Parts: sequence; C-alpha cells; structure tokens
Amino acid sequence: MRPDEQVQLEKIIAERTGELQKTHEETLKLLHFLQLENEKRKQSEIALKKAVSDLRESEQKFKTILNFSPNGIVLIDLEGKIREISEIGVELLGANSKQEILEKHYLHFTSETSENSKQIIKNIINLTISEGLTQENELYLVKLDGKQMLGNISTALIQDSDGKPSSYVVVFNDISQRKKQQLNQIHADRMANLGQMASGMSHEINQPMNIISMIMDKMLYDAKKGTTVDIAYINERADKIFENLTRIRNIIDHIRVFSRNQFDYIPTAFSINKGVENAISMFREQFKHMGIAMHVSLSKQLPNLTGNIYQFEQVIMNLLNNAKDAVLERKALEDEDFVPEIDIKTFKKRNRIHVEIIDNGVGVEEDKINEIMIPFFSTKEEGKGTGLGLSISYQIVKDMGGEIHIKSSTMSHTKFSLIFITNDNGDNG
Ligand SMILES: Nc1ncnc2c1ncn2[C@@H]1O[C@H](COP(=O)(O)OP(=O)(O)O)[C@@H](O)[C@H]1O
Ligand SMILES: [Mg+2]
Repeated sequence: MRPDEQVQLEKIIAERTGELQKTHEETLKLLHFLQLENEKRKQSEIALKKAVSDLRESEQKFKTILNFSPNGIVLIDLEGKIREISEIGVELLGANSKQEILEKHYLHFTSETSENSKQIIKNIINLTISEGLTQENELYLVKLDGKQMLGNISTALIQDSDGKPSSYVVVFNDISQRKKQQLNQIHADRMANLGQMASGMSHEINQPMNIISMIMDKMLYDAKKGTTVDIAYINERADKIFENLTRIRNIIDHIRVFSRNQFDYIPTAFSINKGVENAISMFREQFKHMGIAMHVSLSKQLPNLTGNIYQFEQVIMNLLNNAKDAVLERKALEDEDFVPEIDIKTFKKRNRIHVEIIDNGVGVEEDKINEIMIPFFSTKEEGKGTGLGLSISYQIVKDMGGEIHIKSSTMSHTKFSLIFITNDNGDNG
C-alpha cells in the first residue's frame, strides 16, 4: 500500500468509526430513554392498580357503612333524585327492594296533604347547601305503603374535587316508636303526678265557683236595692248558675274516671248505637240552636260492646263537645256562608267496629296531634277547656280494648275514630 493510500484508508476508518460511535451512542440514548419510559409506564401501571384497588376499597367501605349502619342512608343528587340507599333505609321507607326507591324524588316521601312537611324538607335542603350540614330535624315522612313515620333527619352536602356541590347524604331513622314511648311516659308521669292533677283541678273548679259567687252577689245587691226582681231575671241568673255547676260536676266526673279503680264496675254488654244516641240527645237542641248541621248514620245490627255504657256515652259527649267547639271556632273566622257540620257514623268493617265523629272545624295542627290526648292540654281560652276530655276518653276506650285514631287537616276537617275489634265476623254497612 502506498503511504498516501494508507492515510486515505485510515481517514475512512476513522470516519466510519466515528459514525459507528455516534450511532452507538444514539442507540444507547434511545435504549436509555426506552428504559425510562418503560419504568414510568410500570410505575403508572402500579399507581393505576393502586388507585383502582383504593377505589374498590373505598367503595367497599362505603357499601359497608351504607349497609351496616343502623340508620337509613340516602344519597340524593342535585335534582332531588335518590341515587343510593342503605338496606335499612329501604326497610324504613317500607319498600321491598332498592329498585323501588332509586330514581324517585325525595318529595315522594313527604306528606301530600301537608304543605308544611314539603316546606320543612325544602328548608333543610337549602340549609344544607348554605351551611354544609343540618342535624336532627324532626319531620313526618310517608313510606311507600302510605303509612306515616316520624323521622329524625341529618343531612350533609357532598362536594366534587372543585368544591362544587354534587349531591347530599341524608341520614335518617324512625323515631315514631320512641316518640310514642315518650308520650306514654309523659302520660304516665302526669297521671302519677297527683299534685299537679290537684292543682289543675282546683284551678278548673275555682273558675266556675267565682262566676257563681259573682252572680249571687249581684242578685243580693239587686234585691237589697229594693228593685222588684221578676221571674225572668231569676231564670236567667239561675241558668248561669246551673251552667257553672254543671261545669264543676263535669270536672269532678272527669277526675273520678281518672282515679277509678278498674274493678269499680262490672263490664256488661251494651248497644253501641244506644250509647251514641243517648249522647247525641244531649246535643240535639243545642246544635239546632247554634246552626250546626248534624248528620247521623248508624249501621243497624252492630254487635254489642262490652264495658260501661255511661263511660262510653261520656266519650261520645267529649268528642261532640270538641267538635262543637272546633266548628264554632271556625265559624267565627269564616264568612256568613260557612255551615258548621258534624257527622256521626257507626259501621262495621270486617272484624272492626268503627265509631266516627267528623267535623269541619278549625282542625288540629300537625305538631299538636300527639299532644292533645295529654291531660290538661287545651288550646281553649282560660275557663273554657279543661284539657281532660280526650285523655279521659283515651283511657275509657283503652279499657274497653279499643283505640282512638285522629286525622285532621287544619281549617278543613277532623275525624276521631273509635275502633273496637269484635269476634263477630261478616260485613255490614
Ligand atoms: N274536633 C277537634 N277539632 C280541633 N281540635 C280539637 C278537636 N278535639 C280536640 N281538639 C284539640 O284538643 C285539645 C284537647 O281536647 P280536650 O282534651 O277535650 O280538652 P278541651 O276540650 O277541654 O280543651 C283541645 O283544646 C283542642 O285544641
Ligand atoms: Mg274537650
């Protein structure tokens, strides 16, 4: 090889080697890059797997909390539709499966007749949005089967990652039973509390006694003045005195029923309709006089009830008295066209005897319904109501093995139903 050829060759070799070196370096770089990418992918795969398993875990946790909570838990979206519900929730709302509840609007479970309960729940939702949560609201809910329950409700707002509201959680339970027990407790306490009873009684009796002594004073004063008192004058005063004496007698009768020993009388069979008619006869003239329309519909061939007919009459009289007060109170608020009405019905449906007193009076407010049976609870003006009529009626009906049910809608109607179970089956209208 010639020296110049040698040089040429070496140059070429050097060039090639350089190129190879470069390619090699690039390949290495690429390899490194690929390795890095691979590593990254692996890591993100691991992260993804972890996220999925975390999600599963938290979903599992959520489901566990949801289904093992002793409360009803409901997830509601912003449109008000129910998206998720716990098993207890399904049960509490009277459904057989989740599917019966999901997709329904929450208003579905509020009372249709009560604007009030709709408004309360709307307020709760608004408060949840503004405050983030609300606690321990008491509210009547209507189950799928139409039955009512007193719910205790707490709510919380759920936000998405940007902090925007995305849904609500509602935690609720049924406190109807607890409330009832509380009320029974109150009832029992009051009954046991003789001191309280006595003070209520003396207050109630003092009122008519004062009126009587005032009338007597006035009569004596007039007599002393030497003015001749005619028979009309005496009649009028005597009527007032009798009215107040009757009031006192009623109160004493009431108290007697309260303190009565259950062995004081022997229960006997009596005709329901007879008892109802006797009670009505005490009101007929009075109602006519006051412009109260009375409709009586008594089913024939009702089986007899067992108990004390006088006490049963007292129950009907108490209910009629209340109905009378309610329609008159409403009449005072309405225009002249308003006709006060009281319906009295007896009938039998399967093995139950119903006695109903329905009036179109002022009605009982929803939150008072559970209180009106409590002794001395009265919304009537001082000296008018004793607040004992219903508690006594409750006691009498209970002793006869029956129940009292109340349905009321304010400024519309009130229905008191006495329900007695009989062995005598077979229907009659
Ligand atoms: N038919 C009715 N309509 C409206 N409210 C009623 C009716 N019956 C009872 N109430 C309510 O229940 C309360 C208690 O009744 P009650 O025990 O008979 O006592 P009182 O009649 O002496 O007030 C009444 O004050 C009234 O508020
Ligand atoms: Mg009364």
